[in-house]
Amino acid sequence: MKNSPSIGEEDAKKVSAELAKVLGDTYVIYMKTHGFHFNVEGPNFHELHILLEDQYKTLWKSADVVGERIRALGHYAPGAFSDMIALSGLTEEKGVPSPDNMLQQLINDHDTVCNRLKGSHEVAEKAEDSGTTSLLEELLLAHQEMTWMLRSQAKKITGDYVVKSVTDDLK
Ligand SMILES: [Fe+2]
Repeated sequence: MKNSPSIGEEDAKKVSAELAKVLGDTYVIYMKTHGFHFNVEGPNFHELHILLEDQYKTLWKSADVVGERIRALGHYAPGAFSDMIALSGLTEEKGVPSPDNMLQQLINDHDTVCNRLKGSHEVAEKAEDSGTTSLLEELLLAHQEMTWMLRSQAKKITGDYVVKSVTDDLK
């Protein structure tokens, strides 16, 4: 199979293997987010249900882009749930945790995904595959944005809000 122009066969294989891990992570966090969207309960049900819906839709779209990038590099993309779980660095949730625990699990999982994305980015950079490096950068931004939203949602009413001016805090 012919690889993407300007990327050698060995490099395309290495980068595709990294993208397969990204795909696995994306599917597992997608599934967890969608499951929490189904099952969340409590006084913040509506807000959480909507927030999680926004996020699982974003993650589902990301999975599509990652799978298609593997195809553009000349390899086949994994398409089985068992492969996604094996490729992922995340753990599934089979129960129904409390809303706080749901948010905390997702925050931790996004953090894990960001670290793994940085590792994949290094591989793509070494391969001089700028198409993949920019895709991974976009994914990193998206995961960081989702984390920010989850953290803000998880903040308790009695939480530590700004204690001095925002501009002082940034110094
Ligand atoms: Fe829904």
